[in-house]
Amino acid sequence: MSKIDEILSIVYSKYFPEQEDIISLLSLKAESELEALFNFADKVRKEYVGDGILIRGIIEFSNYCRNACCYCGLNRKNSRIKRYRLSKHEILNSVEQVVRAGIKTVVLQSGEDNDLNPDWLSEIIAEIKAKFTIAVTLSVGERSYAEYRLWREAGADRYLLKIETSDPELYQTLHPGMSFENRFRCIKQLKQLGYQTGSGNIIGLKGQTLETIANDILFFKQEGLDMIGIGPFISHPGTELANEINGDALLTLKTIAITRIVTKYPNIPATTALGSLGHDYRIEGLKSGANVLMLNFTPFPYRKYYEIYPGKRCVEGPVGASGFWMESLANSIGRYIDYSIGDTITITRK
Ligand code: 5AD
Repeated sequence: MSKIDEILSIVYSKYFPEQEDIISLLSLKAESELEALFNFADKVRKEYVGDGILIRGIIEFSNYCRNACCYCGLNRKNSRIKRYRLSKHEILNSVEQVVRAGIKTVVLQSGEDNDLNPDWLSEIIAEIKAKFTIAVTLSVGERSYAEYRLWREAGADRYLLKIETSDPELYQTLHPGMSFENRFRCIKQLKQLGYQTGSGNIIGLKGQTLETIANDILFFKQEGLDMIGIGPFISHPGTELANEINGDALLTLKTIAITRIVTKYPNIPATTALGSLGHDYRIEGLKSGANVLMLNFTPFPYRKYYEIYPGKRCVEGPVGASGFWMESLANSIGRYIDYSIGDTITITRK
């Protein structure tokens, strides 16, 4: 057995692999070794979640944000973007587009909008669940337990809240006025409430090391997440990190691959950020452990104002175009588009 095969097999078999072994995998450079890593992750993906690519439709319903995250274009200090908030009617119309495209998960995402009325969102969730047989995923940031419970009772199935980095100190420098403890509290409570819970990180943050990334992967394992989103940092001119270089696509792919090998079952998207580095690396993501794609259904003209980072690649909402793009992409790598509701496998098996 070669050295690399040995490490891969240990990292696969151990419940909590050694940080050191994960770092060795993150450091791989030689073409043949990278191929071994990606192929291994692809096999684990096939074994645990199969060949289907799950599809989600995302509606970004407000870009108001009370936070000042150093990397994010929606941060409250960025006065250059036009702020918007969709009406209930606009949101429900967009959900209908998602359903018409045959997609059975809608993700309702927004900045941390201070004016978000919990009852208003609750009504929207209930209406969607009454009208359609689809899953509702929320991604509206850090909220109180009471709000999380209200939305869960209204029928929300899943929640996405990225930890961004599992290093509390790095977290603090990147998120002024926020706290790692509160974010962690939110993830715990979401799980307690029975949400299928997603988290994830950003690759290439200023101050991040391979050690940090290895710990992120161990954090994902520790928390038993249902979904894990991993994307490269993309520098936004309206932020404090305007002059920093973008995250590395290869390092992002390695992180996805190792995360699949370590965590096995979760749904892992080939993130939009991974598709927005100039070249569209989502296809490589799907070949290195990922099994989910997200399509954007935020209506025009608002879509361009949800600028978390520049150059965001948004596959268009109109059904024909995105359907064709997805199907041919899946075919080209021997996979298929899975139009089922796409719960986490561990949930389905309960
Ligand atoms: N580059 C990459 N990802 C970013 N996000 C926010 N800003 C950036 C950026 N500049 C990600 C965060 C957030 C998600 C919605 O977008 O991880 O959780």
